Amino acid sequence: MSLANTVREHFVAEFGEAPAFIVRAPGRVNLIGEHTDYNDGFVFPLAIDRAAWIALRPRADASVFAISLDMNERRQLALDDLRRPAELTWMDYLAGVAWALTERGYALRGWEGVLAGDVPIGSGLSSSAALELAAARAFQCVSGFQWDAAAMALACQAAENEWLGVKCGIMDQMISAAGLPNRALLIDCRSLETDAAPLPEGTAVVILDTGTRRGLVDSAYNERREQCEAAARHFGITALRDIDSQTFAARAHKLGALSRKRARHVVTENDRTLRARDAMNDGDAARLGQLMIESHISLRDDFEVSSPALDAIVDCANADDACYGARMTGAGFGGCALALVNADGAASFVERVSACYIAATGNQPTLYVTRACRGAETVYP
Ligand code: GLA
Repeated sequence: MSLANTVREHFVAEFGEAPAFIVRAPGRVNLIGEHTDYNDGFVFPLAIDRAAWIALRPRADASVFAISLDMNERRQLALDDLRRPAELTWMDYLAGVAWALTERGYALRGWEGVLAGDVPIGSGLSSSAALELAAARAFQCVSGFQWDAAAMALACQAAENEWLGVKCGIMDQMISAAGLPNRALLIDCRSLETDAAPLPEGTAVVILDTGTRRGLVDSAYNERREQCEAAARHFGITALRDIDSQTFAARAHKLGALSRKRARHVVTENDRTLRARDAMNDGDAARLGQLMIESHISLRDDFEVSSPALDAIVDCANADDACYGARMTGAGFGGCALALVNADGAASFVERVSACYIAATGNQPTLYVTRACRGAETVYP
């Protein structure tokens, strides 16, 4: 049964009538442009066919009552008395979004509903952004304000940064808000302008979940952010976005060895991401794949956010004839990689790379072909 039907049926069983609205918001995978978003740079993600879903109806009072099928829990929230609890739960994704929207002047009405999702949690496919954007859509349905993808993404990012305490950039929320079917979106993380491009003809994107999850990621992420900000200060620029590879190469010797590596990743990754757009516009899968391979090497050696499991699965993928290029995706240290492959060879690629990875690591991976889908939307009515 589709998740749309699952949330609808549970809603009917719980509330005794059909839901007034069904909304969904997707997770994402990033083709290229990693750890560039918080440097005001460029990213190139696509919204995937896995999402958070909510079936809901308005409530007369200023509260939200939600049932999570995945957590098997029901929780309530008072919109006129939002407090950040000491111990966060899944309800805080909704509370954080309510708080951020209220802060921005949106007048929110209450609702009740049923939630379910199929973005694997903690795998680097942005299950949190999916839940946040689905919540924003739910509030929009009952409160009747205009949907502006960039404004919603910024509010959800604020919820993540301030309410949930995770210092992420804008990529995950922006692609979950603004994704398009059959398109990846080049996002300028400074202006939030987007430029949609289709994948090269005859290619498919395969998600390679290593099955590993790392807790360390938050502190390492914040440390990388600080290193990037320090490097930008050294160059007297607002963000690493503001220096091109040539100028960087000429001036990098003045940076310490570690900052130089960190900054070099960001500067070259921005460059690769813009070249990836050209490759996509030319429908050149081989060039796009090569840029993805270079991106992974830079993340592994200069930014140092890969892991043995990610390197193993990427190596298995890159050694395969059907593969144009593979790399880790998301924050790193575990979770998922992705590969651009020949669509006709995708099914056998999945078999071979699974076997190769199991032989190399003993871990059980999960590999699947994904497709680019629309961002947060109201699917019913
Ligand atoms: C996480 C963050 C994003 C981005 C990526 C790395 O997914 O949430 O904002 O920084 O890591 O590209």
